[in-house]
Amino acid sequence: MSNYHIKHLEEYWQVYRKSVSHPEHFWEEVAEEHFLWRKRWDKVLEWDFNTPIVKWFQGAQLNITENCLDRHLTTRGDKTALLFEPNDPKEAAQHITYKELHKRVCQFANLLKSQGIRKGDRVCIYLPMIPELPIAMLACARIGAVHSMVFAGFSATALATRINDCDCKMVICSDGSYRGAKTLDLKSIVDEALEECEIASVLVVKRTGNDVQMKSGRDHWIAPLLENISGECPVEIMEAEDPLFILYTSGSTGKPKGMLHTTAGYMVYTAYTFKNVFQYRENDIYWCTADIGWITGHSYIVYGPLCNGATSVMFEGVPSYPNFGRFWDIVDKHKVNQFYTAPTVIRALAKENVSHVTSHDLSSLKVLGTVGEPINEEAWHWYNENVGKKKSPIADTWFQTETGGIMISPIPYSTPTIPTFATLPLPGVQLALMDDNGKEIQGNQVEGKLCIKFPWPSMARTIYGDHNRYRETYFSAYDNMYFTGDGALRDAVGYYRITGRVDDVIIVSGHNLGTAPIEDAINEHPAVAESAIVGYPHDIKGNALYGYVTLKETGADRNQDNLRKEINDLITSRIGPIAKLEVIQFTDGLPKTRSGKIMRRILRKIAHKESDQLGDISTLLNPEVVESVIKGSLA
Ligand code: PRX
Repeated sequence: MSNYHIKHLEEYWQVYRKSVSHPEHFWEEVAEEHFLWRKRWDKVLEWDFNTPIVKWFQGAQLNITENCLDRHLTTRGDKTALLFEPNDPKEAAQHITYKELHKRVCQFANLLKSQGIRKGDRVCIYLPMIPELPIAMLACARIGAVHSMVFAGFSATALATRINDCDCKMVICSDGSYRGAKTLDLKSIVDEALEECEIASVLVVKRTGNDVQMKSGRDHWIAPLLENISGECPVEIMEAEDPLFILYTSGSTGKPKGMLHTTAGYMVYTAYTFKNVFQYRENDIYWCTADIGWITGHSYIVYGPLCNGATSVMFEGVPSYPNFGRFWDIVDKHKVNQFYTAPTVIRALAKENVSHVTSHDLSSLKVLGTVGEPINEEAWHWYNENVGKKKSPIADTWFQTETGGIMISPIPYSTPTIPTFATLPLPGVQLALMDDNGKEIQGNQVEGKLCIKFPWPSMARTIYGDHNRYRETYFSAYDNMYFTGDGALRDAVGYYRITGRVDDVIIVSGHNLGTAPIEDAINEHPAVAESAIVGYPHDIKGNALYGYVTLKETGADRNQDNLRKEINDLITSRIGPIAKLEVIQFTDGLPKTRSGKIMRRILRKIAHKESDQLGDISTLLNPEVVESVIKGSLA
């Protein structure tokens, strides 16, 4: 039996049981079966969730790009590694073979070295979905530099915060980006961000031909620098626990958390889960529609697929351009076999005429996937019937930036699926549901806080520069457990369904947003006294943001529509358009506890139109405010 590729349910259970009874032995066998190691490990695992410290495959040496690229050159050199589908359907798709990708990564790596980047340096990548994005990532990994990617929809302020937090030495960006009919000016966002940062070198990819400012001595166009540069670049030999990348995620408090992922464990886990969750076979064409700027793109467009020698589609555009059939056009055109997207996209497409789907041949599809938020039953059925034609299993995959790879998912064609259930833990994943007293809830048909009780290879090792916050956030709520921040239920047969966040993080259109940074942005407005954000159910976005804003006396007579626009403009400039508020209600005050803490639970109920279920509010500092908030509700 191969541990590496699960093919039926009985095998899943065998592998799962083995993986939890002898986790170290299990991961050792997976690591032996598939990868290129420069030196074998001395010890599979060392861990202590109290410190917390987790080390996998200590003593091993490797370079992940040898596993993603070099290893395939003799057997798959002419196979397409990345299939780039541009924003404009009239622009030709690019089939970048493993040989070509290897060469371009080596050239880019040599360029980084010529600009003074060395092992351990942090490099910020702020690029749209163009081939240079994965090439830049892999180039960093080849020379041991740590990439820190920032989604190219974040604002200048958000970009600057992330560049400074991990002390990046360089920024790689483009002149602009295409999104449907729009052309966005990325370089000017970088210029604005860099007013707050000390960066010696900015490398710029030309994509849109926007007129951009190039700061002499600091900014360089990439194309001329790549001319005459060698297409061979020896790999930096990395220790198993050397950092591979930092990726920021929102937290309950203001500052984003730079989750640090390391080399060997991340590689083994993402490669293993890619193969099994998507049941990838040698000549399949696999497409994940996420942006590489998020963890899904890191793990399941770049590292996981390339480690398996797969063909991975990357799409520059949006699902609605030039019309709502674009995704299905791409599936048909490239004969995509595995298709992985977010519930919010499915809901948006399900609102459109179904002929956008039915006019394309989708018979190549074998596996469908979703990720990023709970999928509601209606969207699940629409996806199953119209896209999968009831023959392609849907893998509802649960994971997090922190977990690095998929943790809960059906194994397609093995695990029977049920709408809205992510079903079973993948091998090596030991879940626990906890009650409010910190005790593990045993048995089935129960609901609690979702925790993980044993380390897995791709878990983030720390928050960059703040190990204490890492311990506090993930390991202090429950003894000896990693706390996910999610609630979940386990049904009668042991399947898991994620019920949503139980902290101050709100998932909007599959994006993780912390309430604190948004409130901080709103509070910067001179007319605002204070604010509180809650999520409420939204047809397409899953959740949308509802803002309660109290104005200072001096601001109270201003035009409210103008104020709403100014507040959303501020949020756009501090965070990005994804964090804009759907609803802004101006209030006379916000309900507070006697210690002055805003009672978001009450505000949430009001936004959910459940103001008849507020419970006892008499212990509040200002119970009289509640009535006026209910009266002014825009829900
Ligand atoms: O609340 C869960 C939700 O997304 C959170 C993680 O967000 P992020 O780190 O941005 O990573 C998103 C992509 C992996 C989780 O804590 N989430 C993710 N997948 C699912 C989900 N909620 C329900 N079902 C899922 N399949």
